[in-house]
Amino acid sequence: MSGTGSPGKPTDAVRGEAAQVPDARHRPAAAGHPDPRQPPIGQRPGVTPHPRFVSLEGGEGAGKTTVLNALREALREGGDEVVATREPGGTPLAERIRGLLLDPAHEAPSAEAELLLMFAARAQHVHETIAPALARGAWVLCDRFTDSSYAYQGGGRGLDAAWIAELERRVVGLQPGLTLLLDIDVARGRERTRGRDLVPDRIESERDEFFERVRATYRARAAAEPGRFRVIDASQAAAEVAAEAVRQWRAWREQA
Ligand SMILES: Nc1ncnc2c1ncn2[C@@H]1O[C@H](COP(=O)(O)OP(=O)(O)OP(=O)(O)O)[C@@H](O)[C@H]1O
Ligand SMILES: [Mg+2]
Repeated sequence: MSGTGSPGKPTDAVRGEAAQVPDARHRPAAAGHPDPRQPPIGQRPGVTPHPRFVSLEGGEGAGKTTVLNALREALREGGDEVVATREPGGTPLAERIRGLLLDPAHEAPSAEAELLLMFAARAQHVHETIAPALARGAWVLCDRFTDSSYAYQGGGRGLDAAWIAELERRVVGLQPGLTLLLDIDVARGRERTRGRDLVPDRIESERDEFFERVRATYRARAAAEPGRFRVIDASQAAAEVAAEAVRQWRAWREQA
């Protein structure tokens, strides 16, 4: 992961923004916000895929952020609004949680704390950013989503996938219609991030075995859900990977 948010005291901008947001329970049903008369997400059955929600997944240095930028441009050509966002993060509060999660300065969270912080950030991200954008008709392009929790906290850290699925159902309730998995050999991906990051974040500092488990989990999930996943060989040149991602998205949109 990259782009560790700066931890520490909140900035005035973040505080100011938070101060202007009324308590969600008293907020009028603004355009795009989930209808408060609907049952809360956790009480709806299952996890619903959304046809304008696309996620990018893959290990470190696979090229997710690079591909996201190319895909965003392709989606915008159609004239639709495109919201490009990332996890953990995507709202001021969730970005603060990202800073806590990735900062190597404090003690490492337990695997359970890491999972719950990821889902706390994700719940906020869905509520504040993703669901409103989808409700107003925008495309949402997300750099990592719940599959990252299955891969990193499930495969990587060994937490029970059934527990992750329960959290997904209760606090997310939403799934991308299309997930592009950028698959690359662990060492090659890590080599790319070494060239990019001066100081690796806490998760980037894990050992190769951890990332091998992450990769295997991603591949198993893609094999189990071929309707949602498209696997792209991310070892190709960046332009090729981006072109392949755009092709896959177009083909998926046409068959949907
Ligand atoms: N196909 C590619 N070939 C070679 N280098 C690439 C390719 N795609 C991306 N890069 C470079 O590799 C580095 C990592 O790419 P990028 O940040 O897009 O990966 P990422 O999957 O978002 O990584 P992270 O998981 O750390 O966020 C960047 O310096 C980027 O310019
Ligand atoms: Mg990235």
